[in-house]
Amino acid sequence: MTEEKLSTFTAPKGTYDLLPTVNSAAYLAIRERLSAPLRRAGYGYVETPVFEDVKLFSRGVGESTDIVTKEMFTLTKRSEEDLALRPEGTASVVRAALEANLHKLGNLPVKLWYSGNFYRYEKPQKGRYRQFSQVGAEAIGAEDPALDAELIILADDAFRALGLRDYRLLLNSLGDQQCRPVYRTALVGFLAGLDLDEETRRRAEINPLRVLDDKREAVQAQLVDAPKLRDYLCEDCKAYDEKVRELLTAAGVAFVDDPKLVRGLDYYTRTTFEFVHGGLGAQSAIGGGGRYDGLSEMLGGPALPSVGWGLGVDRTFLALEAEGVVLDLPATTEVYAVALGEEAKNVLFAKVVELRRAGVATDLAFGVKSIKNAMKSANRSGARYALIAGDRDLAEGVVQLKDMESGEQTPVALEALVTTLKEKQL
Ligand code: HAM
Repeated sequence: MTEEKLSTFTAPKGTYDLLPTVNSAAYLAIRERLSAPLRRAGYGYVETPVFEDVKLFSRGVGESTDIVTKEMFTLTKRSEEDLALRPEGTASVVRAALEANLHKLGNLPVKLWYSGNFYRYEKPQKGRYRQFSQVGAEAIGAEDPALDAELIILADDAFRALGLRDYRLLLNSLGDQQCRPVYRTALVGFLAGLDLDEETRRRAEINPLRVLDDKREAVQAQLVDAPKLRDYLCEDCKAYDEKVRELLTAAGVAFVDDPKLVRGLDYYTRTTFEFVHGGLGAQSAIGGGGRYDGLSEMLGGPALPSVGWGLGVDRTFLALEAEGVVLDLPATTEVYAVALGEEAKNVLFAKVVELRRAGVATDLAFGVKSIKNAMKSANRSGARYALIAGDRDLAEGVVQLKDMESGEQTPVALEALVTTLKEKQL
């Protein structure tokens, strides 16, 4: 008979924990470094709820997208609107900007960045999770190819600063309300001649461009001769696209044309892009975004042409691992205190509090530990120095300061301890 372990819970399918022993410090550093270029470029931090009215996403992200039809976690509350865990950030950020009238403050574009978790009910696999983390940026209310280029360059700078090299930038233009309908008609005509399953046909009726994004090989084979959007772009879209490319080239950012890049969300117009990494297998996109000139109006706001991106933190972590990049993470504990005896513990505890208040990251051996085990903990903490004190030291008014690298140990007067350690510029 197998024994059921009633008290054992595991993280829900498609989710995982971040732990100090494994990855949490790296995740914090990745979030910090992906957002650093944005903070230097005038983007302000925004935080929105993790759940929103479900219609915000069905209307904003698109009724025909996988995200809306298959992947949303919806929450139903009695006598309230249906809510959904946010599958992405753009619709929420535009909603928040409109609600707070940020676009009326006379400073367009409104430039915002965010960092948080997003939720999609996907089939979990490496690099694809049901809860995942993004750092995102949205520039709302300006139609300017320099803004598209700025965002793409900032993402590229962020990935490079982290040490990533094995990735490519895929670029496309999806046209605008002038030229896309003409293309749409041509594509609908083409799709009508194909033998498609019912679901794909339904999708083709709502948004035929979605069909181009179908991941199935058999469908892709049918699409080889499909008309290409690039051949249908109007003069304005072509000129806009050219300018974005020119600015990227001038900034030394390499890109590859990908005429099939339609992305998984319906709000895009004109510039769309994706960063794909060579070491991640099927889930290769480490970030993506584009222009979404019509989204504000779809959400009931004024016309606010906008552009943005979302970079995947989980996949950036995997990409760093794939390239063997080790992030330079500073040790969290600089000084580790080991007391030998009750009296010494009282004195050292007070010193630890003082050191922390003076800005030195300090930890202390807790519980009743042998000196051997306490020194092992000091070692594991990564601290540069150990503070060791027993009754004899205290009687002499000193503590022993041990350099954990050289092993050298020197007595330091208790009163001089904080200044001595501050002088070492930890
Ligand atoms: P997205 O392409 O759906 O775009 O997601 C952006 C990035 O989030 C992806 O490139 C990937 O790295 C990561 N990601 C997406 N889904 C998962 C998942 N299930 N597991 C792990 N990582 C994932 C957006 O979300 C748009 N809101 C981006 C945007 C902002 N466009 C304009 N502004």
